[in-house]
Amino acid sequence: MNKQEIETRKAEFIELLKSTGREGVDELVEMLDEGKMHFFTAPASVNHHLNSDGGLLVHSLNTCKAGLKLREMAIAMKPELEPMLKRDSVIIATLLHDICKADIYHPAIKKRKGDDGIWREVASYDVNYSNFPMGHGEKSAMMALWAGLEITQEELLAIRWHMTAWDLPMQSVEATKSLNAARDKHPLCSLVQLADGVAANLIEHD
Ligand SMILES: [Fe+2]
Ligand SMILES: [Fe+2]
Repeated sequence: MNKQEIETRKAEFIELLKSTGREGVDELVEMLDEGKMHFFTAPASVNHHLNSDGGLLVHSLNTCKAGLKLREMAIAMKPELEPMLKRDSVIIATLLHDICKADIYHPAIKKRKGDDGIWREVASYDVNYSNFPMGHGEKSAMMALWAGLEITQEELLAIRWHMTAWDLPMQSVEATKSLNAARDKHPLCSLVQLADGVAANLIEHD
């Protein structure tokens, strides 16, 4: 994406966050944009979906849009879910689920072999977890708290567990039980997991 497109998407991201009326949105946006954090220009991955500047921002917005539509669908099919799937919570948890990736990608030139068999230098990224090596979902949740954002326990849990069993420490009974308990207690957890999958595996898949 070019700079203008990134600015347009960034404005959309901030507007959605502000629509929740939460305290601390400005501080969070500032944190995502300064120092070693490059949330608004980072890719979503190196070799998979949205592996270019602004990819992480687009993935976050796609997850939010998928989450809001899944929320409508779930409530239409089961109206008693409405108080447990608040619009603001869906926005906060989906937009922030992957903010942990804001400081791990760094522009780099790599050699790639083309279809014609010739090696060429192409713009890519290196991955380095050393800035704040806290993990994935748990790092996103901590970053939101660290910025001082007003955020609920269920939103933190939905962010923490958005990878479901793909992010379980090997053989950890406690982590497995915590994941299951979070999903049983808060339907928001399942909704964010689904929205992330819809975005990454259906909308962004080539
Ligand atoms: Fe993720
Ligand atoms: Fe994601």
